[in-house]
Amino acid sequence: MSTQEPTEPLSEPLTIGVEAYVSEEYARAERDKLWGRVWQQVGRVEELPRVGDYLSYDILDDSIIVVRTSADTIRAYYNVCSHRGRPLVDTPPGARDTRGRRRMFVCGFHGWRYNLEGECTRVALGEDWPCGLNEQNTRLAEVRLDTWGGWIWINLDPECEPLRDYLEPAATLLDPFRLQNMRYRWRRWLVFDCNWKTALEAFMETYHVQQTHPEFMTYGSFLGWSRAQGKHSNIGYDAPKGLDENQAKLRLGTGGDPRVSTADLQNFTWENANTNTTRTLVDAANRLVDELPEGTPADQVLRHWLDSARRDDAARGVVWPTVAPEAVGKSGTAWQIFPNFQIGHALNNMLCYGARPYGYDPNKCIFEAAVYELYPEGQEPQTEWEFTPVGDPAWRTVLPQDFSNMAAVQKGMKARGFTGPKPNPYRERSIVNLHHNLARYMGTGAPRDLT
Ligand code: FES
Ligand SMILES: [Fe+2]
Repeated sequence: MSTQEPTEPLSEPLTIGVEAYVSEEYARAERDKLWGRVWQQVGRVEELPRVGDYLSYDILDDSIIVVRTSADTIRAYYNVCSHRGRPLVDTPPGARDTRGRRRMFVCGFHGWRYNLEGECTRVALGEDWPCGLNEQNTRLAEVRLDTWGGWIWINLDPECEPLRDYLEPAATLLDPFRLQNMRYRWRRWLVFDCNWKTALEAFMETYHVQQTHPEFMTYGSFLGWSRAQGKHSNIGYDAPKGLDENQAKLRLGTGGDPRVSTADLQNFTWENANTNTTRTLVDAANRLVDELPEGTPADQVLRHWLDSARRDDAARGVVWPTVAPEAVGKSGTAWQIFPNFQIGHALNNMLCYGARPYGYDPNKCIFEAAVYELYPEGQEPQTEWEFTPVGDPAWRTVLPQDFSNMAAVQKGMKARGFTGPKPNPYRERSIVNLHHNLARYMGTGAPRDLT
């Protein structure tokens, strides 16, 4: 499956069956047809700073060990002992993953040992095997691994296409944002009572903002576009001519005075979502009324705000990438990387979502949200994945509004009276495109003509 297929406009009204969301048979088939063949993001390069640092990543029945083997090499192996199949590292019940540092991996069952290169270096009582065991059938099975954007990606298909090819055109359009320089501000995970697609699709469009997040409508206009980009898709806001950059995440509020509405939008977002902005941006927005005369045109307000925040950050050693305003606009607010990762990028921060199955129950998924930003070197906060269930006040108020739709939509998908999702042909193309691509892997579930 090549990645260089043309981007399909997919603007005709289409509908999707519910099979991909609710069928247990489909969920089981995903194991080999989808998860066994796609590139999956498993963590950040900076999470494994020293040789021997490892983390585990579980996807259905497969557990993977991702380990730094040298200053510039990270490798991935199936987390399974070649003797009788015991995992080499255990994820405690209820934990997201397991991490640590090892010089070698020792199996807890009979004590076979493996070095960081995956070679079996000791078979307990090896003399009992006068023949039969060799380097090949005792070593850990290796998994394809590569890095892009500061993330570590794995692919269980030994014949898979290179990561870079797979990620296009997203990789090229996002490279200027230098996402590899961002570091976690916070990261949380939880389990939703919905399919992983139901969860991700809640963030793949801006069409829901007016109803799901009515408070935001006080500060701005959140209607937006959505584009198919080969396997992937991106979304952005509709913006007037000459205000290209306003399609992206760092944008003006709307109202009589853009100096005031931009500050209001920034303060509201900072306090109630703790995503999509930074302290520097909020402070710079709060100064707009002092620094600009009343009546300053919107485009100049946007320019002044972003330039002064960029300057403030530079003064504390945080250098934003330089990206042309047209490119910022074209890249939008977020990319949906097939099949299950969303990168909501901006010049100095980003918000990313991931979702994956929770066992073979199509009505459950593991969901992750992480906010990143640029920090002065050495001042990055120490963070961990924090299990934060629905209802925990740490989510504040905006994300719970999205969460409130998850189990409800999953339930509605199963209702006899529901005839299938009918995504908005302009604003929700990303959802149709996801299913268009899923169908190519799964052999079922292609979107159909709605008319
Ligand atoms: S299963 Fe690992 S040593 Fe026996
Ligand atoms: Fe939302």
